[in-house]
Amino acid sequence: MAGPRTPSLVADVHSARDAALKSIADSSDTAGLRKVAAELANKKSPLNAVRAQLGKVADAEEKKAVGRALSEASQAIEEALATAQAALEAAEFAAQVANEKMDLTEYLTESRRGTAHIVTQAMEHLEDVFVGLGFQVAEGPEVETDFYNFEALNMPASHPARSEFDTMFIEPHSPNHQPNTVLLRTHTSPVQIRVMQSWKPPIYAIMPGRVFRRDTPDATHMPVFHQIEGLVVDKGITFAHLAGIIEAFTKAFFGSDFTSRLRPSFFPFTEPSAEFDIRRANGSWIELGGCGMVHPNVLRAGGIDPEEYTGFAFGFGIDRMAKERHAVDDIREMYTNDLRFLRQFT
Ligand code: PHE
Repeated sequence: MAGPRTPSLVADVHSARDAALKSIADSSDTAGLRKVAAELANKKSPLNAVRAQLGKVADAEEKKAVGRALSEASQAIEEALATAQAALEAAEFAAQVANEKMDLTEYLTESRRGTAHIVTQAMEHLEDVFVGLGFQVAEGPEVETDFYNFEALNMPASHPARSEFDTMFIEPHSPNHQPNTVLLRTHTSPVQIRVMQSWKPPIYAIMPGRVFRRDTPDATHMPVFHQIEGLVVDKGITFAHLAGIIEAFTKAFFGSDFTSRLRPSFFPFTEPSAEFDIRRANGSWIELGGCGMVHPNVLRAGGIDPEEYTGFAFGFGIDRMAKERHAVDDIREMYTNDLRFLRQFT
């Protein structure tokens, strides 16, 4: 049996190999190729069937020839499988990329550039006006000490004016910390002291910034709001200079149909003190802030000799001015971060 069968065994290997290469070439995707590979690995595949008969080949030469044919066929099939696998994988990946491609370009019909918040706009406008009047801008920390917020401003411990400020104290976890000595500043006035300590007169400074009070939010109050402080220290400064600056500022900021007035008031850090109001074109008044001649004790706390220099200071709320300027009914609206509200003021 071995004699007449052996020549056709090499032929069987070749035809099995050709059939295998053809089904590999015919596979149109990796799933199909995986099926073909599984069939070729099956014990009953034509090539494996020949391999199973190899042991029965009696003729040594023939056995060698069939064995060589088998190993050449196996190698050719392995290579064809690997090449087809790589080609099909690449094609499938390219198809997936093309399929899942996203168009990330967007065509906007209207410009949507952001703008500064109305409080920031008011602050920048105020700075511009005062810089135009010859002032320089200074800033101080929002977390202050009792000394700068009260003591140096002529409000020693137990001064009754302190109770007008609903202060928020900070209690750092430090072994040396004295209770009720570190706080969120209740006004921008402490920056007056810091400026006096670090600049030499003549001083013409404005100091904008955030301030904090234990206030319940309502239509006209927020526990966090913004003030701008003014300080002038020079030789021969009088109350008339203060009134003149307030009037010049009012006209520059609100318009020439606005005027200002000063009403007697009290602040521990100014003497005499006044509230200042502005008058709208329609004749109604708005209360804006406080001002006065810098108290000699305050000049001394800032390291300035009150015999040689005099000065005035003022401070007012910025949020209220932004509210007034844009006719906002409820100040809380300004801080809800609702873009529909904020975009009205671009
Ligand atoms: N710091 C005062 C306040 O917050 C305002 C003020 C500033 C008054 C400067 C006089 C001088 O109410």
